[in-house]
Amino acid sequence: MNTRLVKVRAADLDSEAGRKAIADAAAGIRAGGLVAFPTETVYGLGANGLDEDAVARIFVAKGRPQDNPLILHVAAPDEVRPLLKAVPARAERLMARFWPGPLTLVLPRSPLVPDVVTGGLDTVAVRLPDHPVARALIAAAGVPIAAPSANLSGRPSPTSADHVLADLGGRVEMVIDGGRTTVGVESTVLDVTTNPPAILRPGGVTREQLEEFLGAVAGPESPAPGATPGAKASAGVPAAVERPRAPGMKYTHYSPAASLMLFIGPPDLVVRTINERAAAEGREGRRVGILTVDEHLGAYQGGAATLLVSLGPADDGRAAATNLFGCLRAFDIQGVDVILAEGVDEAGIGLAVMNRLRKAATRVITVDWG
Ligand code: TXA
Ligand code: MG
Repeated sequence: MNTRLVKVRAADLDSEAGRKAIADAAAGIRAGGLVAFPTETVYGLGANGLDEDAVARIFVAKGRPQDNPLILHVAAPDEVRPLLKAVPARAERLMARFWPGPLTLVLPRSPLVPDVVTGGLDTVAVRLPDHPVARALIAAAGVPIAAPSANLSGRPSPTSADHVLADLGGRVEMVIDGGRTTVGVESTVLDVTTNPPAILRPGGVTREQLEEFLGAVAGPESPAPGATPGAKASAGVPAAVERPRAPGMKYTHYSPAASLMLFIGPPDLVVRTINERAAAEGREGRRVGILTVDEHLGAYQGGAATLLVSLGPADDGRAAATNLFGCLRAFDIQGVDVILAEGVDEAGIGLAVMNRLRKAATRVITVDWG
């Protein structure tokens, strides 16, 4: 298949060329095609969410397990009504406060939603993205758009059209290039069927924001490193046998080709430990990448690393989120064998960054003085 790449920035939506590109993409969606498009979080791989065959093609293009449900994206809050059994008052308030934006709500679904979208669950995930190009596309399509992140299953999520093409070029009809995404990590998935609501996946709307608005919030459970289906739990605790509440969270995710070791602890000690480890890996003939922050770049210069990549300033969690997936892909492009990554502060959006790093990691190493 030939993948058509079309550049549409927010500013182009008023131009004739922009309107035509969106109309073409929307026609592609209505015809059962796959269109990758930008959102404020990551790029999505979209199909008509009410068309079973079109949605089934998403799973094939991504190599995604069938039991991992998709989010339905809408262009206005009212468009969720036909998709849901009911809209509880609490959900209404969440939509009014956080939409458009990086918050996905899980609610009981209506019969209109095909099983292939929800993996057979009786709930559906809905979201109104805060990106003018995404909203123009959904509005023009006139149907909810089912869209997972537009990466091959298991790879880091795409934050630019280049990332999408690298993974899905030749597998989808069209990619809309809307530039780099701003939030950089996926939406927060909030289960609103429980009391209190539970964070199933930390993301662009922070736990602190939700707590402030709702009072109490449950979750998220921290993921095991490199979690795989059927993986054994550590420390003698049996692996959970019940169905995970966020089915997607049990799969390996965000994995660069290199193995990633995540180091957590006092910053000075983390830097020292990573330098020692880099030297040891280098002696074994492995190419080493280090994921760090601006302030620590100097401490690694002249060391054993082949590639030093910074998430940004240490105190800027938003920058770390924006840059994270692009950084992970940069290591792959350079072909490093092992990535040594510094953990970040889990306050605010740092919780989502650390969630993705833990899931990308093959090993998590906690260091401490003494
Ligand atoms: O920011 C985002 O959310 C991006 C953009 C494109 O909107 N989308 C995204 O989709 O990250 P995806 O498919 O990569 O992740 C959706 C997550 C998965 O962990 C999935 O298991 C969970 O949402 N999910 C979807 N429907 C669910 C449901 N009914 N119950 C529980 N979890 C659900
Ligand atoms: Mg994904």
